[in-house]
Amino acid sequence: MAPRVPSSSLLLVGAALLLGLAAGAARASNEEGDALYALRMRLSDPNGVLQSWDPTLVNPCTWFHVTCDTASRVVRLDLGNSNVSGSIGPELSRLVNLQYLELYRNNLNGEIPKELGKLKNLISLDLYANKLTGRIPKSLSKLGSLRFIFENNSRLNGPELQGLVSYDFGC
Ligand SMILES: *[C@@H]1O[C@H](CO)[C@@H](O)[C@H](O)[C@H]1NC(C)=O
Ligand SMILES: *[C@@H]1O[C@H](CO)[C@@H](O)[C@H](O)[C@H]1NC(C)=O
Repeated sequence: MAPRVPSSSLLLVGAALLLGLAAGAARASNEEGDALYALRMRLSDPNGVLQSWDPTLVNPCTWFHVTCDTASRVVRLDLGNSNVSGSIGPELSRLVNLQYLELYRNNLNGEIPKELGKLKNLISLDLYANKLTGRIPKSLSKLGSLRFIFENNSRLNGPELQGLVSYDFGC
């Protein structure tokens, strides 16, 4: 004869399962917020332009300088002229729906992460007037429909630079 399981403990197990599922769903929908928050942690922000980036919100769509589509997926990041410094980091490659990445006229340093080559939906990548160094990653050359602007990063180089800068360079 099977041991009798009190129905109250079954309820508890059921409730725990539901909570687990809910937490999993919230986590998944906040993946893009996590990526942006990782960027916030990486940057120095003397003018407080990232102050509204609150990781406890269900998604980043109400954060300043972040634009989502109707499905609450991040499609624009507008941080041009924001006086932020630090490195860009690979986390932004998790914003797979991103179309506009505007980081021009800041004090960003370090290399351009090769992971940005995963952003298949990018239309515009404006990194001009920063302090970026190293080579422009080859991975970016796969993003055919992209308009790149890397100008005025005095220590940025690479044989790819010439081709990429002149690619639809209509600024
Ligand atoms: C940018 O930040 C620096 C501090 O890092 C500050 O001295 C400077 O005034 C800021 N520039 C602008 C235009 O806000
Ligand atoms: C790059 O710097 C030059 C000289 O300061 C300036 O004339 C030009 O407009 C800058 N280009 C961009 C894209 O900021």
